[in-house]
Amino acid sequence: MANLASSFVGIKSPNPFWLASAPPTDKAYNVVRAFKDGWGGVVWKTLGTDPPVVNVSGPRYGAIHSNDRRLIGLNNIELITDRPLEVNLREIKEVKRDWPDRALVVSLMVPCEEHYWKDILAKVEETEADGVELNFGCPHGMSERGMGAAVGQVPEYVEMVTRWCKQHTRMPVIVKLTPNISDIRTSARAAHRGGADAVSLINTINSIIGVDIDNFAPIPTVDGKGSHGGYCGPAVKPIALNMTAEIARDPQTRGLPISGIGGITTWRDAVEFMTLGAGNVQVCTAAMTYGFRIVQEMISGLSSYMDKHGFTSIDDIVGRAVGNVTDWQYLNLNYVAKAKIDQDACIKCGRCHIACEDTSHQAITSMVDGARHFEVIDAECVGCNLCVNVCPVENCITMEPMVSGVDPRTGFPITGEYANWTTHKNNPMAKAFVPAEPAE
Ligand SMILES: Cc1cc2nc3c(=O)[nH]c(=O)nc-3n(C[C@H](O)[C@H](O)[C@H](O)COP(=O)(O)O)c2cc1C
Ligand code: SF4
Ligand code: SF4
Repeated sequence: MANLASSFVGIKSPNPFWLASAPPTDKAYNVVRAFKDGWGGVVWKTLGTDPPVVNVSGPRYGAIHSNDRRLIGLNNIELITDRPLEVNLREIKEVKRDWPDRALVVSLMVPCEEHYWKDILAKVEETEADGVELNFGCPHGMSERGMGAAVGQVPEYVEMVTRWCKQHTRMPVIVKLTPNISDIRTSARAAHRGGADAVSLINTINSIIGVDIDNFAPIPTVDGKGSHGGYCGPAVKPIALNMTAEIARDPQTRGLPISGIGGITTWRDAVEFMTLGAGNVQVCTAAMTYGFRIVQEMISGLSSYMDKHGFTSIDDIVGRAVGNVTDWQYLNLNYVAKAKIDQDACIKCGRCHIACEDTSHQAITSMVDGARHFEVIDAECVGCNLCVNVCPVENCITMEPMVSGVDPRTGFPITGEYANWTTHKNNPMAKAFVPAEPAE
């Protein structure tokens, strides 16, 4: 069986699945339950200065559901821990003592002055925790107080606070980034310059999840008013994946360890993050939705996947897809694929036809010889993949690459040669084509 052991910036855990800093890691009771169920590590719910913050006592969550009531996106207006610092530190010390083989990282958020960071780092060191994560991400509540995303959105602050922390602790420093920024690379580079051992991402996305249209107030509504909050869960995964890949392939941060976070619900999600450069993953919403035991499916799924591919260590997965992430201009413009409908699987719902007819390229029939019949017209199909995505029957429509012959839509022969936009004749900025020198 594959070995799932993980060593992330030197922090060892029996598997790469950590719980992210959030309610699941708010106290010893939860963390011990999580460890019993198999989680490899946790990032303790963010600590701050005393006196602790105060949370609302009304609703703090809102959600987006699919039609079958699955939770797709979660929004929250919760702050950092509202328990006294000393209580958290005592519990952290006890849990680490009792669970030495699990990773225990402590998330921190204090005002942007050096003495606050120096002071809390010394206290955390006494607990024997494995590392700290700097919370530069929360987009609500704390950011209005000059912390969280308010720091994460200013690269100079990210660098400065990271540097302070590296100066004042021997523990590994992970910098948790906010996605509420136009280019994630600027924050990652700043953390790197400040000496961060790793970055973790993403924290939540600033959002209003909905409006109560009878009471005219944002959701969740607290005594008639609502506030913007942090969005997470499966819906944010694509944003997090892209940001992970951006950092992994940026020459300035290449090699900087990444802890992947955002919508991870299954082992497949975790593998996706790891292939794009994450050395481990953190989970919040999925645990809050389904409970701690989901980690068991993650462990067995990852293990089977690794066995199937002959991977012996998770390092065999990390970054494996990064080289295949490229800029649009380098995609092969000579690659041609056509949709193909499996007539035996087709239930004749007509969704592919209407999607292609109204919004794509009029390339799917609806009637043939007076009967409902859905078939792709190769001479019109641009290979866009829309029909595949709207078809309710999985694998009923597939995209088939053309490997020879002539594309009936363009009349161009399929040569198998690679050609991209940088040299295309329609590109006003095209570089002159320089043929490769013949081999001697
Ligand atoms: C209710 C709630 C509270 C959270 N509190 C914190 C926090 O205190 N510190 C922090 O760094 N992130 C916090 N997060 C963000 C999560 O750690 C995580 O970055 C985010 O939810 C994305 O992961 P997910 O899609 O698996 O939930 C919180 C998230 C939720 C839902
Ligand atoms: S791939 Fe696009 S163009 Fe081709 S049939 Fe499907 S929707 Fe139409
Ligand atoms: S959407 Fe799928 S199932 Fe429906 S008609 Fe098209 S191919 Fe058939």
